[in-house]
Amino acid sequence: MRIFESIPDLREQVLNWRMQGLKVGFVPTMGNLHAGHLSLVSLLQTQCDKVIVSIFVNPMQFGPNEDYERYPRTFQADQQQLNTVNADAIFVPTVEQMYPHGLLQTVISVPYSLTGLLEGAIRPGHFDGVSTVVAKLFNMVQPDLAAFGQKDYQQLRVIQTMVDELTIPVTLVAAPISRAEDGLALSSRNKYLSVEQRAIAPKLNTVLLDIAQALKSGNRDFKALTKVGIESLLLEGFDAVDYLQICDPLTLLNSTPNQSKFVILAVASFGNTRLLDNVLLS
Ligand code: PAJ
Repeated sequence: MRIFESIPDLREQVLNWRMQGLKVGFVPTMGNLHAGHLSLVSLLQTQCDKVIVSIFVNPMQFGPNEDYERYPRTFQADQQQLNTVNADAIFVPTVEQMYPHGLLQTVISVPYSLTGLLEGAIRPGHFDGVSTVVAKLFNMVQPDLAAFGQKDYQQLRVIQTMVDELTIPVTLVAAPISRAEDGLALSSRNKYLSVEQRAIAPKLNTVLLDIAQALKSGNRDFKALTKVGIESLLLEGFDAVDYLQICDPLTLLNSTPNQSKFVILAVASFGNTRLLDNVLLS
């Protein structure tokens, strides 16, 4: 597995692969990898010949009071894990390479109607940071395919919109959510949970699945469903529920009764530890 720090070296390698007729897949990450990230690599390996993983903790997508400085940087362990799944290359750009003119540079901004909701309402500017860095990474790597997890459902919709509206020649692959056996969505943040919190955490998924079941059986009282869901999460012991909403899977606007496709999105937290989850019904 090769490790690239320089953009020209990486591009030369990708060009070389493409000239041999090989299809190149790409998995952007911020490192601190777990089985969820690795599942994206494995999924892409079924659809292409070479897989590149980038590791870059992107300052542009962190708010002033968020954990950019404290975000875990675990390159050695990440490298070992990527070796075990036979990734072909790791790309580790520096902040200076990514933002040579600082953060006041050209920004890719997907319409606010999609980025101002849910996570975007709680983390202003977050999705501008995500779309800008992903656009830059796509330009640096020039992959044929790129994988994103449905775990960050709104992020996936933002990237799909950007690729579509800017006609970026990259095929997106959406990867299902990797979960622990008890249903908790895998996340780097799970390691911040105490034993007690870890025992409560899977209830987030249970509540979403209960709502999905109710929707499947024809219940369209979205207000009551989300109210009961929020109440039971608080009763189970979560400190707060940032949101629990039943939305249209494309626009992420609140669902209307005559729709048949739904995504139920929630963030529940213990102290500063925010757990994201969603269930897609389509
Ligand atoms: P990061 O949080 O490191 O996640 C990298 C990718 O892994 C994302 O596409 C995310 O949705 C996916 N992922 C994380 N946990 C998952 C799980 N349990 N199951 C399936 N996929 C999972 O998301 C980012 O980094 C950044 O915003 C990034 C896109 C790299 C831009 O900086």
